[in-house]
Amino acid sequence: MIVCLCRAVSDRTIRARIAEGARTVEELGDACGAGTGCGGCHDQMTQLLGEARQTNTVRPACRESCAMATPRVASVAL
Ligand code: FES
Repeated sequence: MIVCLCRAVSDRTIRARIAEGARTVEELGDACGAGTGCGGCHDQMTQLLGEARQTNTVRPACRESCAMATPRVASVAL
């Protein structure tokens, strides 16, 4: 189903961007263009974001995995 008529973005695409980490209407707009025209789809985008939160399909903040990805600098005694 097309959610954003201005940018021809489907609910499927929006759900995929949410699953990839988009958490706001603005982030969805950056990710796929949805909501960047007339704004008439913002309510439906907000609803999809809310549904994802309720079903835990929004990825949590990645503190642990990001911390693990941070390169460690070995201390060297001089
Ligand atoms: S319908 Fe989505 S921006 Fe217009």
